[in-house]
Amino acid sequence: MNLADQPVAILGTGSYLPAKALSNDELSTIVDTSDEWITSRTGIKNRHIAAEGEHTSHLATHAAKKALEQAGITADQLGLIIVATITPDTLTPATACYVQNNLGAPQAVAFDISAACSGFLYSMKIAENMIQTGAVDYALIIGAEKLSSFINWKDRTTCVLFGDGAGAAVLGASIEGTGRILATDIGTDGKQTHLLNIPGGGSAHPTTEENVNQHLASLSMQGKEVFKHAVTRMKNSANTVIARAGLEPSDIKLVIPHQANLRIIDAIADRLTIDNKKVFVNLDRYGNTSAAAVAIALDEAHRQEKFERGDKIVLVVFGAGMTWASAAIEW
Ligand code: COA
Repeated sequence: MNLADQPVAILGTGSYLPAKALSNDELSTIVDTSDEWITSRTGIKNRHIAAEGEHTSHLATHAAKKALEQAGITADQLGLIIVATITPDTLTPATACYVQNNLGAPQAVAFDISAACSGFLYSMKIAENMIQTGAVDYALIIGAEKLSSFINWKDRTTCVLFGDGAGAAVLGASIEGTGRILATDIGTDGKQTHLLNIPGGGSAHPTTEENVNQHLASLSMQGKEVFKHAVTRMKNSANTVIARAGLEPSDIKLVIPHQANLRIIDAIADRLTIDNKKVFVNLDRYGNTSAAAVAIALDEAHRQEKFERGDKIVLVVFGAGMTWASAAIEW
């Protein structure tokens, strides 16, 4: 059988959260905030923080091993590893190279992509295309972040929102007919780069003492503006893949959105006319883990059997760039 003739499918998922949890109450001993403010504005109650010496590649490797195990694929069968991250171990080489070595996947070409919270679904699109063209048989895509290393822990407007973690999926030809990717949508609006960024540490603002003292290597955000773009872009993108897949919103069993803010998620469900009981939420436990968020949510929903064979699900994300993406999948 020619694998390239088969539709591309998700064959297995995995996720990993570092052991240390940080609650809103604990955070309120570090900055001037409260559980009440964070919960009512965002829905977040808790986030996980990687240990010292635990890097993004370590989180990614843990999640990847679980996805490979579930897919029944060994690392040496992989032709492609993509790590979506904005918090790489090192600026170069790519975090994916460390992961390739950790897993023992010598046949896999490995690289990172930087599309912020949209990175996991950008990776899915790239992997889908490479499998469809016959360039690779099996691909491993990972969203992994150690945002705690890029947060200004004195800035209450950002530090309460983010957490560390990783989620992964193995993609390949859909021989069993499950997990088929029906439609995807990805987009970018480069006019909005100023709304959400980590300005320092690159060529624009290199790592000088002055730049570090000004917290330029920390995440900076115009929250209200980001909120508005997030709702509009995610609603439009989800509607696009639902239509491309030949479906109606009422056909969707579960929406798995980017986990940034419960108010954003509720606003999208409302605009998609999808009951918010059909929307998966875990941001209360993990906060916003950027590229990892939708990947972790997919794995949790999968392992909790929130959908079964034949159900249609939609993943939809939004992030810095601005970037957005969606995928419709028939499980
Ligand atoms: N604890 C207590 N008070 C805080 C606070 C915190 N952690 N952070 C901000 N505040 C204060 C502000 O200083 C402000 O005080 P002021 O009125 O005295 O000036 C007040 O709360 C309201 O701040 P504001 O920024 O208007 O709140 P908001 O309702 O817009 O909520 C966000 C802020 C960040 C939660 C919200 O804008 C948001 O979620 N935006 C989208 C962020 C996002 O999703 N980013 C990731 C995209 S991938």
